[in-house]
Amino acid sequence: VEVPCIKVAILTVSDRCHAKKAEDKSGSKLRQLISENIFFPGQVVHQDCVPDEVNAIKEKLLAWADSKEVDLILTTGGTGFSPRDVTPEATREILDREAPGLNIAMVTSSLEITPLAMLSRPSCGIRGGTLIVNLPGSSKAATECLRFVAGALPHAVDLLQ
Ligand code: MTE
Repeated sequence: VEVPCIKVAILTVSDRCHAKKAEDKSGSKLRQLISENIFFPGQVVHQDCVPDEVNAIKEKLLAWADSKEVDLILTTGGTGFSPRDVTPEATREILDREAPGLNIAMVTSSLEITPLAMLSRPSCGIRGGTLIVNLPGSSKAATECLRFVAGALPHAVDLLQ
């Protein structure tokens, strides 16, 4: 099955954005990249922001993946080393199958941009018919990492149909 337009949900994971103490720049940037079909034909069907809490993250991922209305969930933030960075742990708890190739592609390609790329711990994978990709939190890092895996995403989504 070929998906003509990937249905994308964007989840910003950030205590500060959730508390309105910071602007959600990476969420807005991802929305723009998807809506303008910069990497692949896509449409944003959901967008939200949760704090860096395992339960809040899981709840949103489960609702979106199990709605069967979302092909791809992009999370942004919470992949680093600070004690509050738990996005990969929350994601792994709800995955059926992990997709480590995506993690490797993002981190390896990003190392050519900054050695700090090794501080991102993405945990991409599949739940039902939905692919979940953990992106880092800065707008720049999220854009770069999406760009590194974007070429494979339409085929990945097709395979999950
Ligand atoms: N990857 C790319 N491509 N570009 C970047 O600037 N920043 C790194 C890394 N990955 C970066 C990147 C930095 S500084 C951190 S701390 C980690 O992503 C984790 O970011 P996060 O905690 O916001 O998810």
